[in-house]
Amino acid sequence: MKRLITLTINGKEYEVAVPPNLTLLDLLRYELGLTGTKKGCDVGDCGACTVIMDGKPVNSCLVLAVQADGRDILTIEGVETEEGLHPIQQAFVEKGAVQCGFCTPGMILSAKSLLERNPRPTEEEIRTALSGNLCRCTGYQKIVEAVKDASEKLS
Ligand code: FES
Ligand code: FES
Repeated sequence: MKRLITLTINGKEYEVAVPPNLTLLDLLRYELGLTGTKKGCDVGDCGACTVIMDGKPVNSCLVLAVQADGRDILTIEGVETEEGLHPIQQAFVEKGAVQCGFCTPGMILSAKSLLERNPRPTEEEIRTALSGNLCRCTGYQKIVEAVKDASEKLS
């Protein structure tokens, strides 16, 4: 039996009826069309599905939609600013930190969450914050450089 939930996504309020076993990831991608959040492993290992829920990064494949009732969610679609790309997105482009792009939304949301709580992280802190986000393309160095670059521009 479906349950009616209300949640805020990227500043917009949604009221949706969801089955009890629907994940937040599937709600975002398949019910609401927010396909920037990627589905990799679907079991909490890869971080491709990372979104920010009430200020903290979570694997949306491990969160049931009903658990997101009343919560505030930020997905990659909500990261861009009125002026265009967010400085973290811009840094990823400039540093060559995007190859296939599958991990990128999750990486950017994990990085955003890190820089909000720690605006000038060390390289080790960046690597720790991104340790739940797997990338099969870049070797991570360019991603770390992009986050460092963004932290310098933002602080
Ligand atoms: S799809 Fe959620 S952690 Fe991989
Ligand atoms: S850029 Fe391809 S998985 Fe990271």
